[in-house]
Amino acid sequence: MKIFLDTSKVSEIEKWLPVIDGVTTNPSILLKDGGKIEDVFSLVGEMPVSVEATGDFETEANMYSSKYENAVIKIPLLRPNGKDNLELIKRLTSNGIKVNCTALFSLPQIILATKVGSRYVSLFAGRIDDEGNDSYYSVAKAQRFLNDYGYEEDTTELIIGSIRSIGQVVDCAASRVDIVTIPPAILEKMVMHRFSLDTVKQFERDAEEIKRLDLVAKSNSK
Ligand code: E4P
Repeated sequence: MKIFLDTSKVSEIEKWLPVIDGVTTNPSILLKDGGKIEDVFSLVGEMPVSVEATGDFETEANMYSSKYENAVIKIPLLRPNGKDNLELIKRLTSNGIKVNCTALFSLPQIILATKVGSRYVSLFAGRIDDEGNDSYYSVAKAQRFLNDYGYEEDTTELIIGSIRSIGQVVDCAASRVDIVTIPPAILEKMVMHRFSLDTVKQFERDAEEIKRLDLVAKSNSK
C-alpha cells in the first residue's frame, strides 16, 4: 500500500519522507497549515504532489503542470455550481496532464472519473463516515471495481482520503487499497504502541543491568 501525506507542512513532510510515496494538498489544508505549495514541491523530489485547481480549473491545471513535472491536478468531478467537469478532465488527461479526480463519495462517480482518464480517483472515507455511513464498504467496492477492470499504476489508482482514524487505515489495508493519504497526526498514532514502549524500556533497563553486573564481576575478579 502506498502512503501519501495529506499536508502542506514542510516540517511534517521532512519528518515522514522515509515512508511516503507522495503528498496531497487542498485549499483547506493550505489555509490551515499556512503552507506554500512551492515549498512542498521543492521538498519532495519526483514524488507526485496533488494540488487542487479552483476557480478557472483549466488555467490553474495548465499553470501547475507546466511549472512542476510531478504536479497532479486535483479536479473535482462536480463544480460548485453543480455542473460536472468530465469534459474538462478528458481534455486535460488527453493533453498528458495528470488528474486526481477529487471529492468523490460513490462508486458511480469513480466509474465516470476513470472513463475520462483520471490518473487518481480520491474517495473521501472520513466524510462518508461523518454522514453516518460505513466507508469500509465504499472503499472495498471501489478498489474491487478498479482491480476487476484492470486499472493499475499506469492507468488509474484509488486514493482513500479524509482519513480520521488508524482504523480507517487498517480497513484500507484489508481491502488492499492502492493509496491512502494520511494526515501527519494519524501517522504519529500509527507509530505509537504502549506495549512497544514498555518492551523497549524493559530491554534498556536490562541491558544496563547486564553492564552493571559485568562491572561488578570484573571488580570482584581483580
Ligand atoms: C484528500 O485528498 C483530501 O484533500 C483530504 O483527505 C480531505 O480530508 P478532510 O475530509 O479531512 O477535509
